[in-house]
Parts: sequence; C-alpha cells; structure tokens
Amino acid sequence: MPIDQRKVIEALGGARSVQGMNAEAKAEALEAYLSNQLDNSVFVRLGAPSKPMTVRELDKRIDQRPLRRGVGTLFASGGTNPFGTRLPNEPVNVPRLAPMPAQPDLLDFFRLRFAPAMHVLQSADTALAAGVPEDIVLACLLHDVGQTLMKADHGWWAAQLFEPYVSRKVAFAIRYHQALRFYPDPSVGYEYPQLYNLIFGTDYVPPPHIAAAYQYCRNHKWYMAARLITINDLYSFDPNHIVDPAKFTDIIGRHFKQPKEGLGNDNSPVAHMWRTIVNPDAPL
Ligand SMILES: [Fe+2]
Ligand SMILES: [Fe+2]
Repeated sequence: MPIDQRKVIEALGGARSVQGMNAEAKAEALEAYLSNQLDNSVFVRLGAPSKPMTVRELDKRIDQRPLRRGVGTLFASGGTNPFGTRLPNEPVNVPRLAPMPAQPDLLDFFRLRFAPAMHVLQSADTALAAGVPEDIVLACLLHDVGQTLMKADHGWWAAQLFEPYVSRKVAFAIRYHQALRFYPDPSVGYEYPQLYNLIFGTDYVPPPHIAAAYQYCRNHKWYMAARLITINDLYSFDPNHIVDPAKFTDIIGRHFKQPKEGLGNDNSPVAHMWRTIVNPDAPL
C-alpha cells in the first residue's frame, strides 16, 4: 500500500503532535493509521464513500441516489450495501431469481434468496468456533438476512420474520443486536465499529427508539444473547472464508421450527413476508 507521508502526519494530528510522540507511540499511531486505511479501502470497494462524512453531508446526498439506502437487497440491483451506491460489477437491472421449491425450508432460502450471505455465514462460523451456545449461533446466522426484505430497522424486521420459528431468546437477540451495535461494551471487548462512521456519519447519534431499545436490552436477562451477536458480527469481510450454509443443518434442525407446509405456506402471521422473499417480482 503506498504511504503518503504528509497524509500520515496530518492524520496523526499534525507535525507538532508527531514530534511530541516517543518512538513507541509513533509506531502504535502508525499501525492504527495503516489498519484504518486498509479497512477503508475494503469498505470503499464495497461501496463506501472514500472518506467519512458527517450526518449532514450524507443527508444532502439523499436525492442524488437512485436507491433509498434502506431498500431490501432483493429489490434493486445495487441494493446489496448500505451506502446507496451500485458497485461497478453490479448490473443496472435486477437479476432473474431462481425458482423456489414448493415447500421451501430455511436452507432453501439461504441457497436461493439470501445467498451469498457471506456476512452472516462468517459471523455464525466465528461464533461456532468461539464455543458460543448453539441457539446463539443460529441467531448469528439469521441476524442480518432480514436485510433481503428491508435494511432500515433490519433487527426488528428480521426478529418478526423469524419469531414464529425460533425461541423467544433468539428472536430477542436478533431484534436488539441492531441497537446494541452502537454501544461499546469494554467488559467484553466490543468497540464502536469504525465502519459506522462511513455508513451513518462521523457525528451520528442514534435516534431515541434505538437509545431506548439499548437501555431496555442492557438491563434484560438476555442482554448477553444480543451482545454475542454484535461480538461475532464481522465488519471486515474475508473473501477467503467460505462457509457452506449446510454446515448449520443440525443447529437449524434443533433450534428452528420448520413448518411442514414450507415457509410462506403455513398461514403464520409472517407467512406473507416469506412469500414476498420468494417472489419479490410480484407487482402488487
Ligand atoms: Fe445487523
Ligand atoms: Fe451483521
């Protein structure tokens, strides 16, 4: 990676600040700078702006985008990231979706609608390797797939989508991970994700419903279930960490109540949400 000395000094607080650092502090500051730069370049490839913006600057761009940033990923080409930008390799038109089996189960959705789902698969795999209880591994596996339907308030959408089929604790964890991720918890090594400066703006303050949800969750007996999702939520995506959803077949079997009629056909209060994912091309 090319290093522009002037930019580095500027990023470390200017020449005077750098002169005041001892060798160790300089090395640490440089390491932090380089790792930030590396992360940023990955995020830029994923559609992020090349430099962090303020909330106001991001807001100004709303009517300069063809897509609303909260759009579900299934509904527009270029809806795959939270930045509201179409990636260079994304076509203008939406792709044709593969037909689903008549009685689809959760793994069919992973294969045919949620794919590539790399983020949740890697998160669940990380949780599994860390020895997290398997119901929470399932929560990690499901925590962001509601974004196929809607990115805005995705924790609530996803919790609702899964509520009839998972334990109350798993639904709770999925719902509240959305609020929790804004709030560090040093006792478990969770820090505010740098990525959020790019997504939400450098001076972003979570809205009242998120702050209230955080307070509620923080004092709840299942706080750690939701916190474990954020701990295993990966903000850097490793293209070489390929995980087959089938790896979680047994965990799904034990913790997800698959309706025998197939998801979308069971007349549950959320069946229409699954049908919408099956056929987002339905005009009305
Ligand atoms: Fe999330
Ligand atoms: Fe996530």
